[in-house]
Amino acid sequence: MTFEAEVAQRISNNGTNSALNRDAQSLMTSSMKAGYSYNFSWMGRPIIQYPQDMIAMQEIIWRVQPDLILETGIAHGGSLIFSAAMLELNAACGGPADAMVLGLDIDIRAHNRKAIEAHPMYKRITMIEGSSVSAEVIAQVQQIAAGKKSVLVCLDSNHTHAHVLAELQAYAPLATVGSYCVVFDTIVEHLPKEMFPDRPWGPGDNPKTAVHEYLKTHPEFEIDHTIDNKLLVSVAPDGYLRRVK
Ligand SMILES: C[S@@+](CC[C@H](N)C(=O)[O-])C[C@H]1O[C@@H](n2cnc3c(N)ncnc32)[C@H](O)[C@@H]1O
Repeated sequence: MTFEAEVAQRISNNGTNSALNRDAQSLMTSSMKAGYSYNFSWMGRPIIQYPQDMIAMQEIIWRVQPDLILETGIAHGGSLIFSAAMLELNAACGGPADAMVLGLDIDIRAHNRKAIEAHPMYKRITMIEGSSVSAEVIAQVQQIAAGKKSVLVCLDSNHTHAHVLAELQAYAPLATVGSYCVVFDTIVEHLPKEMFPDRPWGPGDNPKTAVHEYLKTHPEFEIDHTIDNKLLVSVAPDGYLRRVK
């Protein structure tokens, strides 16, 4: 058996390993309660992610070689800097030379904007301030995406069902065939309701419920379960949507 075939077999076995999945879910619940996703940074900027998902994103960005990565939800800018750095590496290895990251956020705080604009990776970043689901912002994004050959979409802003569904409707169609629309924080569906006392989202109303609703009428996307089964520890179970047609 080749190394690759062994890896694929092992990942597939994870999917039916109930003890492993139970332990992983237990770690997700206790680590989310401990605020684990706020512990990391990428090239100096805080990134609100789990390291496992960042590795999955690196694998996708290398494979897909996007010339545009669209991200909703900027916060401190860590995920924008991460994506820009991956595009810089792709370019250094012969990938798209002018690849860019487009970030959207309803509220780009002045100190975050200043730090992102001062970062060496900013040369690959464009930011738009406004709600990701407003008609004006959607029109601007469509204009920037027009003519791009390989587009990757990442949704990580407001985590209510209605908002994520609206983002999926607006932006998932921009993901090119073979690329992905990645929906973060689907994990909310699997966490206790009490963990979200001050949030409009929670179990039953979150990115995962939006993903499942969207997929009912969008067979051009499939959940890439190989990523879920590989990561086990992830904020995006069922959130790695691969565009298959
Ligand atoms: C979880 S943070 C993003 C984290 C970032 N992607 C990272 O990995 O570091 C969510 C962000 O979404 C933004 N947001 C909330 N509602 C939004 C909306 N309607 N449109 C765009 N951004 C929104 C918030 O201002 C916040 O900065």
